[in-house]
Amino acid sequence: MRINVTRSSLPDFEEFCREIQGLWDSRWLTNMGDKHQALEEALEAYLGIPHVTLFTNGHLALETALAALHLPKGGEVITTPYTFVSTTHAISRNGLVPVFADIKPEDYTLDPEKVKALITEKTVAILPVHVYGRLCDVEAFEALGKAYKLPIFYDAAHAFGVTKEGVSSACFGDMAMYSFHATKVFHTIEGGALAYREDSLVQLLNDLKNFGIRGPEEVAYIGGNAKMSEFQAAMGLCNLRQLEEEIQKRGRVVEQYNARLAGREGIILAGTQPGVSPNHAYYPVVFDGYKYSRDEVFDRLAFQDIVPRKYFYPLTNDSECYRSLPTGGKDKTPLAAHVADRVLTLPLYADLAPEDVDRICDIILK
Ligand SMILES: Cc1ncc(COP(=O)(O)O)c(C=O)c1O
Repeated sequence: MRINVTRSSLPDFEEFCREIQGLWDSRWLTNMGDKHQALEEALEAYLGIPHVTLFTNGHLALETALAALHLPKGGEVITTPYTFVSTTHAISRNGLVPVFADIKPEDYTLDPEKVKALITEKTVAILPVHVYGRLCDVEAFEALGKAYKLPIFYDAAHAFGVTKEGVSSACFGDMAMYSFHATKVFHTIEGGALAYREDSLVQLLNDLKNFGIRGPEEVAYIGGNAKMSEFQAAMGLCNLRQLEEEIQKRGRVVEQYNARLAGREGIILAGTQPGVSPNHAYYPVVFDGYKYSRDEVFDRLAFQDIVPRKYFYPLTNDSECYRSLPTGGKDKTPLAAHVADRVLTLPLYADLAPEDVDRICDIILK
């Protein structure tokens, strides 16, 4: 049977049916119903943050977050090219200009020093990404934000469930965006959320995700439609109950990979970050000076019907639509380019069988 890079976890079928049963009576299927309300409250409690606003996906959450601050059109947002293209598109689709800074080789997150060097009077925000759930240098970004009076938005799409010294990834920066896509550690089929402290943003974000409608006869803003439905929220309520188990099961797969692949020449594993409790969202491996190139390993696995992912490749600043920007083109961010050309994320999901992990490692090593 084919092994894909990921496989969605699902709650117990009966449990999900119980969760959605009331919808057949209420007939309230979307537009911020009871499930939506319950999930927002549950996530605020879980993440330890005053406000969580749900969205129909992570991308629209990020796009709306940038829109909510009314940043001046043409303003520059410094970000990483080592990300999913959604991050960069969210900037551009707000009429802002992405400026790409290079990454830190040790954890592939945006390098605060490289960001600092690119700050000008045109800079309006900084948008780092917690790549693979590995946290950015949050202290350095906080200091940068304060020193230059710039908002810090984290793309925390990968970092749900990650904590640093007990503090959740939601608590860093002005806002954090989570993706609850079906492939994520915690999902609502499609879905996303913004986590933040600022009280005045609650009403604004709720309006913006619902066409800018403030009341039955009042349209306050030019908004879009990014509402999470009751079915998505119900899936989230069920999945939140099994989140710890999900992370533990993934952790076992990670341990098995580590035991087989650690210490091999030319194979670089992600390792752990001090004080950080991981969510085991992805298992990235960089083949740098290994007997097979990344593409050869990919082909050998694909030949056996095992499908890893070249994630993140290509860099977003090397995509057709961004290459002509001043910081476009992979030569502008050589460290990110080096990793993107060599990385593979291996299959990782809660019920990936130990014998399949062994088979994947055998193919890589032999
Ligand atoms: C880093 C990153 N940012 C943004 C997104 C977009 O999230 P969504 O798919 O929920 O729209 C993703 C999705 O995988 C992602 O990995």
